[in-house]
Amino acid sequence: MFETLTKAPGDKILALMGEYAADTRSTKIDLGVGVYKDEKGVTPVMSSVRKAEERILSNETTKTYLGIAGNKGYGTAVLDLVLAPEFDRSRVRIAQTPGGTGSLWVLMQLISRARPGASFYVSDPTWANHIPMAKNAGFDLQTYPYFDAETRGVKFDAMLATLDGLKAGDVVLLHGCCHNPTGANLTPAQWDKVAESLARTGALPFIDLAYLGFGDGIEADAYGTRKVLASVPEAVLAFSGSKNFGLYKERVGAAIFVARNNDEAEVTNSQLLNIIRGAYSQPPDHGAEIIRTILTDADLRKEWEEELGVMRNRMIALRKKLAEAIRERSNGSDFDFVADHRGMFSLLGLTNEAVEHLKAENGVYMTGDSRINVAGIPEDRVGDLAKAILDTVR
Ligand SMILES: Cc1ncc(COP(=O)(O)O)c(C=O)c1O
Repeated sequence: MFETLTKAPGDKILALMGEYAADTRSTKIDLGVGVYKDEKGVTPVMSSVRKAEERILSNETTKTYLGIAGNKGYGTAVLDLVLAPEFDRSRVRIAQTPGGTGSLWVLMQLISRARPGASFYVSDPTWANHIPMAKNAGFDLQTYPYFDAETRGVKFDAMLATLDGLKAGDVVLLHGCCHNPTGANLTPAQWDKVAESLARTGALPFIDLAYLGFGDGIEADAYGTRKVLASVPEAVLAFSGSKNFGLYKERVGAAIFVARNNDEAEVTNSQLLNIIRGAYSQPPDHGAEIIRTILTDADLRKEWEEELGVMRNRMIALRKKLAEAIRERSNGSDFDFVADHRGMFSLLGLTNEAVEHLKAENGVYMTGDSRINVAGIPEDRVGDLAKAILDTVR
């Protein structure tokens, strides 16, 4: 049987983590891995999460099955968090999934049932995992222009021109906020134009919302999602609780879709539940129950929002520090974009040789496309990092 298989490509980020671990230099800096780190370099369990877990442990009375759509209270709480309060919920359904990746997977299967082989547009570039996932779902993978290598901002006119040329039945994957890998994001005015374009063409928006609250705050980060959902008849939305609740290994996400009306939502939901039943039957509860507990308790919610704010503000402060440190040393504004980007990542726009050089000479690790995790910048080494980057690009 298995002799027919050939080796699948390994995961590049995991390989980079291995190289970093094997590097014996005490001055090494890890900007590669895609998890939040605090000032001590650790990915902490949030205090609100810890408290919710303690409650769950003492109050839980059964381990019986949850049902295909998972934890219902979690579903309601996530919709309350993500949707505008006035949004018509009769058109919406939600299923808890194992992580944001699980939600991307089930939603791709759902679209594939409706439109096998649909043209599926992702930003150039996009999160690396979107590409094999969309291909595995049988879509005709296409890209739309996104990152401007010169300005390190969004090539908005080119992006919009591509979106304007789409047709009903095409699918467009949009990062709801905190674009991964670039860190370059749409302004509210640009989201308005994207929403208008989607409404005009009938292309289906597929929003990946993996970093809500990591950019400028929960409300600001939800702007694009809410604007698009308010403008179009149908949409899908993949939510992840991995980053904003620090629940990475608990695998908690949600697949959400909006249909034209309640009847179509019922039919579509029957397909979604059928896909889940045939894949993993039901999601695990723990992470979802943590999020439900936090979002439905005023004190825990307040504490979580404060903790999320600390993470967000730390990343914004590190961005400013790095941009300033480079400006001071270079007398130039070439890296000011780092301070304008939002979320956990920035794409520096370096060549692969430069990335390799930074690793070999300075022990600075980032992914091959020159994406850095700003949360990985050691606060006391910002100057060293700025110098290493400048020495490499000069
Ligand atoms: C853009 C994007 N989407 C989705 C995910 C999925 O996250 P998870 O499956 O860990 O919830 C990630 C995680 O890195 C991401 O960066």
